[in-house]
Amino acid sequence: MNRPALEGLRLNHPAHVKHQRLIDWVADMAMLTEAAEVYWCDGSDAEYQRLCEQLVAAGTMLRLNPELRPDSFLARSDPGDVARVEDRTFICSEHPDDAGPTNNWMAPAEMRELLQTGDQALFRGVMRGRTLYVVPFSMGPLGSHISHIGVELTDSPYVALSMRVMTRMGRAVYDVLGPDGDFVPCMHSVGAPLQPGQKDVAWPCNKTKYIVHYPETREIWSYGSGYGGNALLGKKCFALRIASTMGRDQGWLAEHMLVLGVTDPQGRKFHVAAAFPSACGKTNFSMLVPPEGYAGWKVTTIGDDIAWIKPGADGRLHAINPEAGYFGVAPGTNDHTNPNCMASLRRDVVFTNVALTDDGDVWWEGMTATPPAHLIDWQGQDWTPELARQNPVNGKPRPAAHPNARFTVAATNNPVLDPEWDSTTGVAIDAFIFGGRRSTTVPLVTEARSWSEGVYMAATMGSETTAAAAGQQGVVRRDPFAMLPFMGYNMADYFQHWLDLGARLQAQGARLPSIFCVNWFRKGADGKFVWPGYGENMRVLEWMLGRLQGKAEGAENVFGISPRYEDLRWEGLPFTREQFASVIGIDRTAWQQELALHAELFRQLAYHLPSELPATMARIEQQLAA
Ligand code: GTP
Ligand code: SPV
Ligand code: MN
Repeated sequence: MNRPALEGLRLNHPAHVKHQRLIDWVADMAMLTEAAEVYWCDGSDAEYQRLCEQLVAAGTMLRLNPELRPDSFLARSDPGDVARVEDRTFICSEHPDDAGPTNNWMAPAEMRELLQTGDQALFRGVMRGRTLYVVPFSMGPLGSHISHIGVELTDSPYVALSMRVMTRMGRAVYDVLGPDGDFVPCMHSVGAPLQPGQKDVAWPCNKTKYIVHYPETREIWSYGSGYGGNALLGKKCFALRIASTMGRDQGWLAEHMLVLGVTDPQGRKFHVAAAFPSACGKTNFSMLVPPEGYAGWKVTTIGDDIAWIKPGADGRLHAINPEAGYFGVAPGTNDHTNPNCMASLRRDVVFTNVALTDDGDVWWEGMTATPPAHLIDWQGQDWTPELARQNPVNGKPRPAAHPNARFTVAATNNPVLDPEWDSTTGVAIDAFIFGGRRSTTVPLVTEARSWSEGVYMAATMGSETTAAAAGQQGVVRRDPFAMLPFMGYNMADYFQHWLDLGARLQAQGARLPSIFCVNWFRKGADGKFVWPGYGENMRVLEWMLGRLQGKAEGAENVFGISPRYEDLRWEGLPFTREQFASVIGIDRTAWQQELALHAELFRQLAYHLPSELPATMARIEQQLAA
C-alpha cells in the first residue's frame, strides 16, 4: 500500500499528537499490517465504556450481574492461549552472548525478515479486516524521572482496554512525549486477519506465537497471542525485559518485585521489595493483613508485580511501581487468604478464564470451601462437582476456572493502596526479599550477612513451576531473582550488575538494603504446607524489620542468619517447636544436592559469571562438609 492509499485508510491522527516520528511509525505499521482502520486511544472513561460494549457485542466479554459485580466482565480466552509462552519468547540482540544461555535468541535481521520484512513476513496484512488501536502509555507516574513512555499498536480491543487499567494510558502521555520524546514502540497482533465477510471468533489468536524483543533498538514485536504478558506489552516485555537492559546501561534495576510499605505500632514506616516467581505470592504479600496480635501494624501496597529501582541523591535505592493495575492470579484468592484483594475485586474488574455462577457472578477454585452446585466453566461448558470428577485433568477433578485465570483491576480499587504508590520519586527500600516455591530444602527465612551473600541467594534461587507459563508444572528449576523468564540480557551480566550497584553505593557510604531469602511452601509428610502463610507471613516480616533495626536475634548457619523458635512472636498462632523445626531446618544431604544444582547453573552461566558467586558456593560447601 502506498501513502495516498493510506490517506484513504483514515490515519487521521488527532491534532494533539505532534510527534512526527510516532505518526510516521503508525502510518508504516498500518501499511504493513493493512489494518482496515486506525483508532487513536485517548484513555477517557467514555472510550473505556465503548470498548466494553464493543467487546460484549463481539462475544469476547460477558457483562456480570451488575448487582453482584458492578461494571465487571468475564472474558474467556481460546483454550490454547492461556498463559505466557516462554519457549516462544526471544531476545534478539546482535550477539547471542548478550541474550545469554537462559534466553531464546535469534539474529535481529533474521527475526525481522520473519516478522516484518520478508515476502511472507507474519505482520504483512495481519490486521486485514481489523482496527489498529494506538495505545499511548506511561510506565510509572506521568512525568517521573524514573518513568518511561511506550506506545502499543494492537489489533485487540481487549488489549487496548486492559492497557487502560494496567498503565497510565491516554492523551496526557502525548504531552509528556512532546514533539520528539523517546518511546518504546510495542507492536502487537493476535495474528488473525479477517477476509471480507469473514465472521470473527470471540478470542482471535494464532497457533504460531512470537514474543520478540530487540534490546539494542528497544523494540517489542508480539504475534499470535492475546493473553497477559504475551500481549499487554507494557508489563513483562517492556517493564522487565527491555527495562532491564535500560537499567544495565543506565545504572538502575527493573525487577519482578512487589513493593510494600509496613508501619509498626510506633508509626515507623519501612519499605520492602520482594521477588517471588510467577504465581508464588507477590500479590498476596503486597496486600497482607496482619494477624491477631498485630494491632497497630499496617501493610500497604505500592506494587504487586514489578519494581523500577534507582539510586537517589541520598544514596538509597528508590522504587516505583511502573504499573497502575493488577493482573493477578484468581485461583486460591479468598476472604481468608487475601481479604484486601477480594475487596479490590468488588467492582470494575475484567476477569479472564474464571467460572461463571448461575446468578451471573464469578467463581474460582479456592474462592469458597464448597464449590457451587453448578457453574459454567472457563471454556463455557456446564460444570458440576460430579462432572468435574468424571472428567479429571492430571488425576484431579477438572477445574472450573483455569489455574492461570486472572483479574485485571485498577490499583485504585485496592483498599490498602499506599499513599505514596503514585509518588514520582518512589519509596526508599529498606530490605529485599527473595523467595521461591520449594516443598523441601529451603528454610522459612534466612538473612544474608552481606550484599554478595544476598546476591548469591537470589542468583541460585529455585522454584517449582506454576500455571503462569505454558508447559510442565511443579518441576523445580533455577529461577535467578525470579527473573528467568523476564531477563532482557545475559543473566551472568545481570548478577554482575547487582554486585556492581551494591559496591558503588557502599563506596559512597550508603547503607544498603538488607537481603533475605524466604520459603512459605515447605510441605510435611502429609503433602500439606506446614507454614500457614498469607497473613501469618507478618511474623517473618516483623523479624526482618527487627533485624534491620538491630532488635531481633537469630542464629548463624551456613547460609546466613535464621530465627530460632523464640525469636519469632507466636501470639495467636498455635505453631509448635517441632513444626517450626520442620520449616527452618537445614538438611545436610538435601543441601549437598542443592549445591550441585547451583554448580550446574554456574556451569551454564560460566561466560561472564562474577567470581564472587562460585567463591561463595565454595565457602558454603566447606562449612557444610565441616
Ligand atoms: P504473578 O502475578 O504470576 O507474578 O504471581 P504472584 O507472585 O503475584 O502470585 P499471587 O500472589 O497471585 O499468588 C499465587 C498463588 O500463591 C495463589 O494461589 C495463592 O493462594 C498462593 N499463595 C500466596 N501466598 C501464599 C502463602 O503465603 N502460602 C501459600 N501456601 N500459598 C500462597
Ligand atoms: C507472571 O506470569 O509473572 C505474571 C502474569 O505476572 S503475566 O503478565 O501474564 O506475565
Ligand atoms: Mn509476574
